[in-house]
Amino acid sequence: MKILDIIRKRRSIRKYKSDSIPDDVMDRVMEAARLAPSGKNGQPWKFILVKDKEMKEKLAEASRGQMFIANAPVVIVACGFPDKSYQRQGNYMKSWSIDVACAIDHLMLQAQEDGLGTCWIGAFEEKEVKPLLNIPEDVKVLALTPLGYPDEEPHDRGRKPTNEIFCYEKYESFGSSLN
Ligand SMILES: Cc1cc2nc3c(=O)[nH]c(=O)nc-3n(C[C@H](O)[C@H](O)[C@H](O)COP(=O)(O)O)c2cc1C
Repeated sequence: MKILDIIRKRRSIRKYKSDSIPDDVMDRVMEAARLAPSGKNGQPWKFILVKDKEMKEKLAEASRGQMFIANAPVVIVACGFPDKSYQRQGNYMKSWSIDVACAIDHLMLQAQEDGLGTCWIGAFEEKEVKPLLNIPEDVKVLALTPLGYPDEEPHDRGRKPTNEIFCYEKYESFGSSLN
């Protein structure tokens, strides 16, 4: 499928079938994350693949009780290494969260190509997630995503039109409600 079709079809999936994911499919999803760009090619990331039912439930509880997460066959916990990332992104920040986000997005799009669903989970308690998975102090958790075959077909959630988010040559304000 063309990349733009994959991007257009992706939805956040909050209902999953219990079917397991074949190894070759899992390999492609992991490969897509592995090949993501990162500041100075630092690749300051680690992805924990969780299949254990009890652990998935604990992770869902640590994600403000979003229990649908535990119904997917795999939950991926995306971690970043602030100290090992590019330190001067824009000369004001470390790049680790951007790097990890790029990798998650790659992963999500390959998942879509393979008929799998994902859902970026940002509403979680890092202080609860880290001890569950033995994540070291200097490692951050950026996001989780369930990964599995969708058991729903959500509608298009809508996006701002192109002419509200792109301008040409110089920054242009579009009105009081938008930046
Ligand atoms: C940073 C971030 C955090 C998010 N956190 C959650 C979350 O905790 N739970 C959830 O169900 N969806 C979460 N989402 C998914 C968004 O709600 C979803 O992407 C958005 O509503 C657009 O829908 P779509 O992905 O189907 O196009 C998050 C997305 C992002 C990018």
